[in-house]
Amino acid sequence: MAAADKVEEVREEVTRLAHTTHGAKELMQQMVKLLHDRMLKYNWVGFYMMEPGAQPPMLILGEFQGAMTPHTRIPLNQGICGAAASSGQTVVVDDVSKDPRYLACSLETKSEIVVPVFAHGEIVGELDIDSHFPAAFTAEHQSLVQYCAQLVGKKLENSGR
Ligand code: SME
Repeated sequence: MAAADKVEEVREEVTRLAHTTHGAKELMQQMVKLLHDRMLKYNWVGFYMMEPGAQPPMLILGEFQGAMTPHTRIPLNQGICGAAASSGQTVVVDDVSKDPRYLACSLETKSEIVVPVFAHGEIVGELDIDSHFPAAFTAEHQSLVQYCAQLVGKKLENSGR
């Protein structure tokens, strides 16, 4: 199967999940499992959510699939995760060894993507994916991961949890 077909198929599967799950937590649980199981280069898949009312603002590890990470709380001025949350922009790093912001989760990680999740126009969290392969997150993958983050944002807006 060509990579593009796989991305398209997984896009359809996450769309189905968005319709069949009850609430954002269940959607996030099933989405990280689906992405981790189906996309062979997505070796760690997880959500970090903004801690409500935290001062200074803090990202807290949420639903994830893959090895446990030492980074369960990330301030917005640290890591690729902090960069994505503070800028509100997708961050793609093709070679984490060359990015001084990178906080290591696994020694095997070579590339990473972090996509912010917005609900009601506010950043509420982010979807973080690590790969053991360099430059794994090409344009079609960025589009898939952004789509996943949007589905979660919409579910949070509709279900509030
Ligand atoms: N690499 C991230 C930290 C989270 S772990 O990858 C799961 C970062 O640099 O923010």
